[in-house]
Amino acid sequence: MRRRKEPKWLQAAKARGGASVQADFLSRALARAGVLPPSEAERAIRDGRVTVNGRVATVVVAPLEDSDVVAVDGEPVDVRPTTRVLAFHKPKGLVVDGRDPEGVGTVFERLHALLPPTLRGFGWLAVGRLDRDTTGLLFFTNDERFVAHATDPASKLPKRYVATVSGRISDAKLKVLREGIALDDFTTRPAGAERRGERQVALTLTEGKFHQVKRMLGAVGLATLELHREAVGDYVVDVALDTLRALTDAEVEGLLGYHPRHLG
Ligand code: URA
Repeated sequence: MRRRKEPKWLQAAKARGGASVQADFLSRALARAGVLPPSEAERAIRDGRVTVNGRVATVVVAPLEDSDVVAVDGEPVDVRPTTRVLAFHKPKGLVVDGRDPEGVGTVFERLHALLPPTLRGFGWLAVGRLDRDTTGLLFFTNDERFVAHATDPASKLPKRYVATVSGRISDAKLKVLREGIALDDFTTRPAGAERRGERQVALTLTEGKFHQVKRMLGAVGLATLELHREAVGDYVVDVALDTLRALTDAEVEGLLGYHPRHLG
């Protein structure tokens, strides 16, 4: 009988360390499905509390199939990935990073403080980045494919920022912002640029390079004093500062153009 070739990701996982391989995939599945957060899931597997098809999960296995029956402490759990998206209204001061060498506080710490018990079992990823001093819409999700959809310039999902600037927002500057600007390392795509009063400009971008808004405004002689992301796709942030809410599947699909996993 011909043996199926082992996929590269499984080879790599094995190279990372024998018996932890199943823990790796199983723990990811448990976290993605909201059963246990990543570190607890790994501990539960190591403690022999998790079974797959009735066997204690300690040996290297292929990834879970939909038909596999997973149980934690003898209770069957549903590990099929289901897309969850949370909209968080980020306040100033928090970094969008797991590391926090300056001890200023991260969005993940804030997220965990705000999460209701029903959402604590997920492994949450931040969708893109905002600078520490930027406020506004930041999504969290359990679905890496949603991260790719929302951040890959190829999907052209628009992100709308409102900047308060010092300097005069002339029509000529707006035209340059709209048409694209050659920055040091790349030329920006055509963008939306609208005046929002004397000192505010709204920029709509379909890409998200490091400090892009501040750099674009700087290139036309406008210094950014405040920056706020008010919308991604057709979703306009509708939660108060420093709070979050879960989006419905219909919102994820209709406003962000992403088909949630396991909608069938
Ligand atoms: N562009 C910036 O310059 N900063 C942000 O936080 C987001 C986009």
